[in-house]
Amino acid sequence: MQWNPDLYTSKHAFVFDYGASLIELLQPQPSERILDLGCGTGELTQQIAQRSPETTGMDQSPEMVQKAQDAFPGVNFIVGDAAHFQFPKKFHAIFSNATLHWVSNYRAAAQCMYDNLLPEGRMVIEFGGKGNVQSIVQSLQKQLAARGYTEQSMHQPWYFPSIGAYSTVLETVGFRVTFAQHYDRPTKLVDAENGIVDWIRMFGKSFFVGVAERDITAISQAVQEALKADLWQEDGWYADYKRIRMVAIKEL
Ligand code: BEZ
Repeated sequence: MQWNPDLYTSKHAFVFDYGASLIELLQPQPSERILDLGCGTGELTQQIAQRSPETTGMDQSPEMVQKAQDAFPGVNFIVGDAAHFQFPKKFHAIFSNATLHWVSNYRAAAQCMYDNLLPEGRMVIEFGGKGNVQSIVQSLQKQLAARGYTEQSMHQPWYFPSIGAYSTVLETVGFRVTFAQHYDRPTKLVDAENGIVDWIRMFGKSFFVGVAERDITAISQAVQEALKADLWQEDGWYADYKRIRMVAIKEL
């Protein structure tokens, strides 16, 4: 997917704002080498690097990495794929916020994280859990089907596992899961009027491959209208985010 880093930081900063508490769970130490997997525009990488200077941010999007590097020239960033990466030096910890639901080859990603950690190294991750943005996705699928876009109405771009399913993935490659949480995190969207339309424009592009431009606008607006009863509150739109947060250790 092609990212728009400016739209991301101006209207979707909640993605990294929420990540700050995950850094507290990571507890970065000065002598540690840390990888921020899926660093986006680098805000969290920079916060980790203030505590662990040998921190690297990696993202699949060259546009995001360029923006991160421009904003934080003292931090090391690299373009790389979460399901295919190999660093010459292994890490004490791998951190990842709001990324792993984009990685369809999640088994390969778990194996890569394992392979790139030192023995007893830890992973501290958070991403979309089972049921994440379910009402938005279901409404989008319904509106696509209603306009005859049958194939697109079955599109599933994200991986949102339960604690049980993802623990199995991690244990299969050799991790020991030491902490797991699945929680609701209704997330206030920045655009008070068109929050859902805006969210779909930023994150839901792949639903519209082969969809006529006028239908994209009509579908997005119909989704927003249909979700008013569930996702609109007095002070704006809230997306129905559900997160999975886990810590796991690389067993010897
Ligand atoms: C999330 O952070 O949960 C998310 C973001 C974009 C698309 C789907 C999920």
